[in-house]
Amino acid sequence: MRKNLIAANWKMYKTSAEVAAFTREFLPLVAANKRDEIVLASPAIWLKELNAQLAGSNVSASAETMDFHKEGAFTGEISPVMLVDAGIRYVLIGHSERRQYFNETDDSVNQKLKAAIAYKLTPIVCIGELLSEREAGKTADVLRRQVAGALKDVSASDAATLVIAYEPVWAIGTGKTATPEMAEEAHQIVRAELAKALGQPAADATRILYGGSVKPDNVDSLMAQPDIDGALVGGASLDPKSFARIVNYLA
Ligand code: PGA
Repeated sequence: MRKNLIAANWKMYKTSAEVAAFTREFLPLVAANKRDEIVLASPAIWLKELNAQLAGSNVSASAETMDFHKEGAFTGEISPVMLVDAGIRYVLIGHSERRQYFNETDDSVNQKLKAAIAYKLTPIVCIGELLSEREAGKTADVLRRQVAGALKDVSASDAATLVIAYEPVWAIGTGKTATPEMAEEAHQIVRAELAKALGQPAADATRILYGGSVKPDNVDSLMAQPDIDGALVGGASLDPKSFARIVNYLA
């Protein structure tokens, strides 16, 4: 019922030439995949050219962040209107690096989510606990707070395209993956909170991705979990062969 979604997050990596080399090698490796939705989140400066390279393929481009204003005196920021104008249909919101280094909060995530909905962008909202929070037994509380905060004043019909990415912060870029069982448990907590905020049908329809050191050698067991509906992949998405193997996970 839920179409799985596999997304790359290139973060602040790749030159223009590297983006072109990636798509040249990657697109043929995933062209036969009709099973999954495939997304590449790229630095904003390459989004237009990436989109042109992806035209006619089964792969879409995503922004890694955006501002929530339509326009204004916000030096350096990019608005949802600009993303739509560039033909972009997806945006990551509230990645833990944005929360950690750029002061994003549950409140700004909520404002960005509402802006994405208003401009018909598919939002991929990132949540996840810190190591200290997990060790203190607070994982469920943190996930509930982040989901409830993101969805404040958002209705089930608004959330029709919503995607959540559960990314335990201690697993991002560390090589430490949550076990499939740990991830499944967190995804069930997230889905229950989605049901509280949006109702059960909307919660059942929402894709929940796992992120945090997803690699070709652990993706199959993660994707086998019933509540894991895809992956958000950093390091292992930079190489076309590695990311293609992740996209073509064995079901
Ligand atoms: P990682 O990053 O796959 O390198 O752990 C995931 C992410 O930050 O989205």
